[in-house]
Amino acid sequence: MAQTWTPNSWRQKPIQQVPDYPDLAALETVEARLAKYPPLVFAGEARRLKSALANVAEGRGFLLQGGDCAESFAEHGADTIRDFFRAFLQMAVVLTFGAQQPVVKVGRIAGQFAKPRSSSVEKQGDVTLPSYRGDIINGIEFTEEARLPNPERQIMAYRQSAATLNLLRAFAMGGYANLENVHQWMLGFVKDSPQAERYRKLADRISETMDFMKAIGITSENHPSLRETDFFTSHEALLLGYEQALTRVDSTSGDWYATSGHMIWIGDRTRQPDHAHVEYCRGIKNPIGLKCGPSMTADGLLELIDILNAANEAGRLTLICRFGHDKVAEHLPRLIRAVEREGKKVVWSCDPMHGNTITLNNYKTRPFERILSEVESFFQIHRAEGTHPGGIHIEMTGNDVTECTGGARALSGDDLADRYHTHCDPRLNADQALELAFLLAERMKGGRDEKKMVVNG
Ligand code: TRP
Ligand code: MN
Repeated sequence: MAQTWTPNSWRQKPIQQVPDYPDLAALETVEARLAKYPPLVFAGEARRLKSALANVAEGRGFLLQGGDCAESFAEHGADTIRDFFRAFLQMAVVLTFGAQQPVVKVGRIAGQFAKPRSSSVEKQGDVTLPSYRGDIINGIEFTEEARLPNPERQIMAYRQSAATLNLLRAFAMGGYANLENVHQWMLGFVKDSPQAERYRKLADRISETMDFMKAIGITSENHPSLRETDFFTSHEALLLGYEQALTRVDSTSGDWYATSGHMIWIGDRTRQPDHAHVEYCRGIKNPIGLKCGPSMTADGLLELIDILNAANEAGRLTLICRFGHDKVAEHLPRLIRAVEREGKKVVWSCDPMHGNTITLNNYKTRPFERILSEVESFFQIHRAEGTHPGGIHIEMTGNDVTECTGGARALSGDDLADRYHTHCDPRLNADQALELAFLLAERMKGGRDEKKMVVNG
């Protein structure tokens, strides 16, 4: 890759997953407008995230990344954002305690609008229309009008992202994320859970720690770090015209940054090394993610690492593995060994959602047991290889939806119809997400005890 990179050099490359805009002049006008709008995030923030992720790559932290599969215009509102953040922060507290390490908090939010599709058209009866590609591109209703890609939607997505980010920043820094609040919400969850007995042990230990800190005078009044948290945004960089319009030079370093979010990732369907999405991502300095599915070969991965992280900088690249609960044991070890052999610095994260989707009663769903099982295998494999299981990447919401089966409330296939709201893939609801955090925290502690036993015995 000796060629020079520019924010539009991706336009010279073959590209997958491009919408068929009927009016290219209108698209250009929108992109030119976006290019003048203020950046959504600041380069210094992206650098801060990168250094937090560098600690994760080196085994000293854990990445929690989660949010909607696809954000929607219709569900945009303060309550949705607040409820997501509330569930997410509770997970973060539980995981911080379980890992005994800082948790890097990254939402799939404030920009997660564009969706790759396996087919460019959808058929219902005799009618064939363009597939829904996310609210930033077209509408989900099955009508010709809605499905026609409309560039004005990019402006809507930008504005929604700005408003969402604004509220999240206020929550993260303005008192809502106070550890004492989050702890109280977490206790409320445990009290109401059918698995209360099981989760109470861990919850009680967190409570004791909080009481101890208070007793020695460490409170949120005198320690801002107890009432504030760093929260970052991320999304799949799929719609490259939009990304290009928000690509800006950082005046302090002279480097290019994607300012549509702190971290962006490349999907499993658009990671061809000589194609447009890889070309775009290689030139921006943000931390980036790369989705790795079963078709990723060890050599293919090393080639991509060389393109995307030529300087082998820790924190730059997160490998988001999404194999499926029954395939992770086959694929993960060979990738870990190749990366270790070549001494590449990466964050290993587990996406236990996308390889575990099934159809039940005509609904796309994901069984909670399979999600948990993929994460458990991910942890076990890393332990066996001597590498750091650095994080999880999940699709979740703060609302009480019925999209994934299982969990403590044992949602069944017949319950799916009740509150199936997702615009794309099935998400964990708030209880299921928090449960996953508790079950992982238990195992993280188990893993540490095991290590101590080896050392002492
Ligand atoms: N600032 C610390 C952190 O972000 C502690 C903290 C404050 C926290 N509020 C939180 C941790 C909410 C998790 C969730 O880690
Ligand atoms: Mn998805």
